[in-house]
This record gives sequence, structure tokens and C-alpha cells, in this order.
Amino acid sequence: MGKLSAHRGEILHFLDKDNYQHFEDGLLVIEDGLIHSVGNAEDILKQFVHPPTFAQHPNCLITAGFVDTHVHYPQCEIIASYGKQLLEWLETYTFPAEQKFDDPEYASKIARFFLDQLIANGTTTALVFGTVHPQSVDAFFTEAQKRKLRMICGKVMMDRNAPDALLDTPETSYSESKALIEKWHNKDRLCYAVTPRFAPTSTDEQLEQAGRLLQEYPDVHFQTHISENKQECEWVTELFPERKNYLDVYDHHNLLGKRSVFAHGVHLEDSEWQRLAETDSAIAFCPASNLFIGSGLFNLYKANHYGVKIGLGTDVAGGDSFSILKVVNQAYKTQQLQGNSLSAFESLYLATYGGAKALDLHDKIGNFEKGKEADFVVLDYHATELMKFKIEQCDSIEERLFSLLMLADDRAVKNTFILGKETKNAKS
Ligand code: GUN
Ligand code: FE
Repeated sequence: MGKLSAHRGEILHFLDKDNYQHFEDGLLVIEDGLIHSVGNAEDILKQFVHPPTFAQHPNCLITAGFVDTHVHYPQCEIIASYGKQLLEWLETYTFPAEQKFDDPEYASKIARFFLDQLIANGTTTALVFGTVHPQSVDAFFTEAQKRKLRMICGKVMMDRNAPDALLDTPETSYSESKALIEKWHNKDRLCYAVTPRFAPTSTDEQLEQAGRLLQEYPDVHFQTHISENKQECEWVTELFPERKNYLDVYDHHNLLGKRSVFAHGVHLEDSEWQRLAETDSAIAFCPASNLFIGSGLFNLYKANHYGVKIGLGTDVAGGDSFSILKVVNQAYKTQQLQGNSLSAFESLYLATYGGAKALDLHDKIGNFEKGKEADFVVLDYHATELMKFKIEQCDSIEERLFSLLMLADDRAVKNTFILGKETKNAKS
């Protein structure tokens, strides 16, 4: 038997969307960084001749690490920028900030800051945009590897409609992406994602090269943006008049599939939802960003109706927070405005196992099944006076979880564990 560690407290995790396990007094046992067992503490302890020592977490909830299915690490410095909607926001804030990532030292500095923010917020896996510069991805993966994180990232492919300093070509985007795949994909816990920014900044020739990469490397991931903002959608219709709809621009180049994640999807047509479902593609639901840059209200109930895989995304820096807990709060409100009440259980599912499924990583992370990688969070029900006051009045796990999710932010993340190791008091 390998080295065991264990954590005792209230535990909740999802085996699937409507299938969870909840232990009021639970024990999570970890062996060599992987899940060994989970269950009622008394039951689990009885199974050992020499029970492992355990840390106790009173007034806390232990759950799987959060999964951020859409975020831009190079946009840290433009978080909370005033007054623009998508296309102007890109021109005014994003493109100038991304030009700094031709400097590998700057890229490393921001990658460190970004990963520290993720961990402080309980996020243990993310699908991350780099910039057009391959060195931005080298810097990101180098820092993620040091922290032993499970992360997916890719170099942005962009050959038109952006400043010259941020443009590549179909050929260089292919060769640079290929070199990064060879260097990083499946190295430790890192995976590569082919990453055309969005249809308006790629020619058909470039999207064809993206399709070629997916064909040559069938287990790499794919990420892009879709149907976020009305003006953007109109622009795509003008740029690709021969395509049926926005999704068809990507579909035409064989970019849909079970490892493809499309960010936003606020303004999709029914036929696009149907096609996403048919191809097992996922949408990253980014309510904080959709509100912050004024893109619109995502319809989660439509997504569920069509059976499309959904994960949550902060979309920093369209989004104004690194906290998946705050994203859950905004997800709830955007659905309320459409007459639907997103439940606490579905919210936590989306933040954990649902996100893992959206990234096709659910055989490795997202819950506490035996053998999975032991990335988890300990959330403090009493993190603030208000949370303590409210949660002491709750009678059931439903009520307690809902109050926690609505009132919490990074202060409630007592500790984040990576492969069973705590990060808050960690010596590296
Ligand atoms: N669409 C194209 N690029 C971006 C980006 O950087 N952020 C967001 N939110 N949407 C985009
Ligand atoms: Fe984005």
C-alpha cells in the first residue's frame, strides 16, 4: 500500500448529473495522490487494520476541485475594464494587453499570478487561452507543470482582423501549434487545445489547418468562441456568407466533437444546439462575462433540453472574477431572469463533474471515484459572519449548499488540494 492521507468532514460529490453522494460525516482517503476511498467516516475507518490519520474539517464542505472551462490567462491585467462591449473591448483592452506576451518573462510572471488566483479560488483544472505567441503557451505549461496541475492550453490562431503584431498565418499557426503539441500534449497532467480565437479572426485557410491538426492528433482538445454578441454574429454572417450559421463555420472544417469547447453560445439557433448535441461538443457557460461585457442571457434550459454538455467558465477578463463560486451566483441570476431556477445541486455539478465532462476529462477528475486524481477543495460554511449567520439557520443540505454557493467567494475556499497535497500551507 502507498502513502495514505485522509480528510474528515461533510463530503458531497457527483457521479453524474442527477446522481450524487453526500456524507454528513465523511472520510476521503487518498493514496499517492489518487482517490483511495470515500464514504461514511465510521464505515471507511472500520475497513482498515491500521486506519490512516486524518485532518478534521468542521463546518466545512469537501468537494471536487472546480473546473473553469473557459478563461484567458493573458487577460489578467485587463480585468474590470470599463464601458465596452465585445468587439470594442477586444480592440481597446484585449489586443494591446496580449501583445506583451511576446516577452517570455512577462508571460511567466502573469502565468504565476494567474495560477495562484485559480488555486486561491478552488479551481484545479482549466481550459485556457494563450496568445498568438507560442512562448505564451510554453510559459503557461512550465508554471502549471511546476504546480502539478491538470491544465489545458493552446496558442491562439489568428490571421486577420487584429493588429499585425498579433497575426500569424495558416502555415505558421499550423507549424507552431504542432510543435507545441509535440512538446506538451500529455506531458504530466498537461493537454493541448487547438485554439482559433473565433471565426472573425481566422480565414477559411486557417480553420482548415485547425481541422488538419485535430485529424493528425485525434486526442488533443479544441477551443474557440461562438455566438457571444449580436454584432459579432452579424459580422460572421458577412464574413462567411456561404455557411448556414455560426456553428457551421466550424463544422465545415470538422472542428466539432467530444473534446471541443465553444465559449458562450448566447445567441445560438435551435439547429446549432441540435448539431452541438449530435457531435457531443460542449458549451462553456460564462454568465459573469456575459453580464460584464453586456453580451446577453445564456439559456441553460435550452442547452439541457437539447442535451448539450455544459461547463462553467469565468472568461477572465470578459468576466470580472476568478471565482467559479461567483460564476455560480451569476448563473443563478441569469436563469432567474428567464423564469428558471438553477438548483444548488445542478450548480455544483456544473462547477465540478459537469465541467470535467465538458472537457472530456471525467475519467481523471471531477469526483471522488476510486483512482481519480485527488484534486479537491475544502469550503468553509463560516467564512464570513453573514455566511455563518445564514447557514446556521439552514435545515437541509439543499438549503445549506444554496446559501453557500450564493454567498461565497474566495474567502470560503479554506484550502485547495492538488493530487492530495494542500496548497495553502505548502512548502514547495
Ligand atoms: N471573442 C473573441 N475573443 C474573445 C476574448 O478574448 N474574450 C471573449 N470574451 N470573447 C472573445
Ligand atoms: Fe473568452
